[in-house]
Amino acid sequence: MTTAELRGMGESELAALIAANSESTDHDIAESAERIREEHFGRSVFFRGLIEFTNYCARGCYYCGISRDAKGLCRYRLGDDEILGCCKNGYALGFHTFVLQGGEDPYFTTERMCRIVAAIRERYPDCAISLSIGERCREDYRALFDAGANRYLLRHETATNTHYRLLHPTEMNFENRKRCLYDLREIGYQVGAGFMVGSPHQMPEDLARDLLFLKELRPHMVGIGPFVPSGATRFAAEPGGSVPLTLLMVALTRILLPQALLPSTTALGSIDEHGREKAISLGANVVMPNLSPSAHRADYALYNGKISAGDETAEGVQKLSARIRAAGFEPDFGRGDHPAWRGT
Ligand code: 5AD
Repeated sequence: MTTAELRGMGESELAALIAANSESTDHDIAESAERIREEHFGRSVFFRGLIEFTNYCARGCYYCGISRDAKGLCRYRLGDDEILGCCKNGYALGFHTFVLQGGEDPYFTTERMCRIVAAIRERYPDCAISLSIGERCREDYRALFDAGANRYLLRHETATNTHYRLLHPTEMNFENRKRCLYDLREIGYQVGAGFMVGSPHQMPEDLARDLLFLKELRPHMVGIGPFVPSGATRFAAEPGGSVPLTLLMVALTRILLPQALLPSTTALGSIDEHGREKAISLGANVVMPNLSPSAHRADYALYNGKISAGDETAEGVQKLSARIRAAGFEPDFGRGDHPAWRGT
């Protein structure tokens, strides 16, 4: 099967392909994904510094360990100085992208976030600022962009309306998620979408629709990780997503979106010791070590068994770099913008 054939597939063909390759990725697909990444990015793997600055969340996503309904969690917020301290540490370690990720915490109003973004922008003019703070209105996205944010991560989670409703409370819907993503794109952000593999009730057709949605949206970044049950949620006893199926989805996404920035996700590294390297071999080209203060690490528990110990230390960064080199790739601490993006 050729790359052109893969790119031309419709929903039922993709669903059949996904079902047939769920245990291991077909050799041709793996080879195409590798070749395409090589063509556009060589061996580079970009480093992004992740700052998990609040685990308060007003949303009730059924799968998420920091949802408003998750019990037994110690909630925390970082102060402005702590956030800036994470950036300072990250910058000293060589990072040129900071990803501010948090639950949808009403305390962090758009005004407050704009102040934080502007402060980072002023101190680190050569760095990219990514936000991952959920659904807001277009005006708010615009204000954050004007304050200096460059990128925005908002996984679409699933591109199937009915499946979306099985994973989220009634006040959330795929239509609004899509609206957010298109608004962000139009404003000028580099936009990241993405989904979980193996989330409860997911069928191969749903994954096929995820890929077709990506083809339509053409996001600059795509986060794909396995669903991992969280003990604090109603899905605690559900089976988790599989490593091979996640790797297949990464490879297919690389083929459909040749220039996309694809993280090798923490969720994948958490369920498979070599998961991160495996994803990189199949087309992923981003890693996002955690720069948050280690004291709060365990409380940003999106799912059980989430890894990140020591990421924020020079030793941690060196260790991860060494692993990437050992797998035949080259750590890259530049901003790593999307090749087709011509912004500021
Ligand atoms: N397993 C895997 N990923 C999860 N996320 C949230 N909960 C889980 C889970 N239980 C992902 C969602 C969200 C991102 C920040 O983390 O896709 O968008």
